[in-house]
Amino acid sequence: MIVLGIESSCDETGIALYDTQRGLLSHALYSQVAMHEQYGGVVPELASRDHIRRAIPLLQQVMTEGNTQLNAIDAIAYTQGPGLAGALLVGASVACGLGLALDKPMLGVHHLEGHLLSPLLASNPPNFPFVALLVSGGHTQLMRVDGVGQYELLGETLDDAAGEAFDKSAKLLGLGYPGGPAISRLAEFGDPSVYLLPRPMLHSKNLNFSFSGLKTAVLTLVKKQTTNICEQDKANIARAFVDALVEVLLVKCLAALKQTGLNRLVIAGGVGANQQLRAALNAAATKRRFKVFYPELEFCTDNGAMIAFAGAMRLQLKPEAAQRDYAFTVRPR
Ligand code: KG4
Ligand code: ZN
Repeated sequence: MIVLGIESSCDETGIALYDTQRGLLSHALYSQVAMHEQYGGVVPELASRDHIRRAIPLLQQVMTEGNTQLNAIDAIAYTQGPGLAGALLVGASVACGLGLALDKPMLGVHHLEGHLLSPLLASNPPNFPFVALLVSGGHTQLMRVDGVGQYELLGETLDDAAGEAFDKSAKLLGLGYPGGPAISRLAEFGDPSVYLLPRPMLHSKNLNFSFSGLKTAVLTLVKKQTTNICEQDKANIARAFVDALVEVLLVKCLAALKQTGLNRLVIAGGVGANQQLRAALNAAATKRRFKVFYPELEFCTDNGAMIAFAGAMRLQLKPEAAQRDYAFTVRPR
């Protein structure tokens, strides 16, 4: 079965072809980051319009590189939500138009399920069951995953997501958008002994998170500076922020492994690309003898491959999920 995947939930247009026998055939991505950078964040209307411009050329690229004819596709999977309504509608419309024209079924995919299953696209994928830490711009969740569609929520953020904390703190430090990679790079030059930021809910008896206080702590430090904040001090604050956030994520992952009795941990979502987080998890995995799995770096952030893959897995499990009435809908929340 060959599934075409379309991702357009935020500021990345991703298209991919996944074959259940041969694996990922091709994928293409266009990031709108440069366009939104000047506004300090994603402008929804601009995002939608740009998805419209990129979708079909990316589709053509993917078909050529995947050496596949449009009529060889068996189904079309599109991100149904969560995400920006207008942006989601572009992907859904393209999927529906293609489905109708080619007489192929379509399937709405949950964006987070795409992220959650993305480590299975790697060359050395984990077996089920595993604990998954899903850390993106909009979500921070710990899940027990027993199979495709078998997800148990173990804990989640009560306020800001980890990626959101990265982006907001980076903005407070005057770094560009998206803030995650920028603050992470700057933190490398910071002195860890200068500032100590709070570790929210580190010792709470559950697996929930809270990151809004961490962002406020960054704000307080920035406001305390009487003169213009110097580069070294920015780096020191960035370092304190990254250290605090990574420690909370690490401790909660360890608690989730203990609670479930599992020894496989999977990291998914944009913050999963973070090198400090990976270093901390890798060190803990060696010490405590569990295995940690990551998606390929390019599949940590939003992409079409994870949507094509999640769609294919869903259809294998439940062929009747394929939709042929072409009455598409999106679910921004
Ligand atoms: O999964 P994703 O691409 O989109 C959502 O579904 O939200 O995640 C985007 C988030 C942004 O908040 C971005 O700042 C963060 O992932 N991110 C990172 C890194 N790369 C992306 N955060 C920390 N370190 C990184 N290297
Ligand atoms: Zn995402």
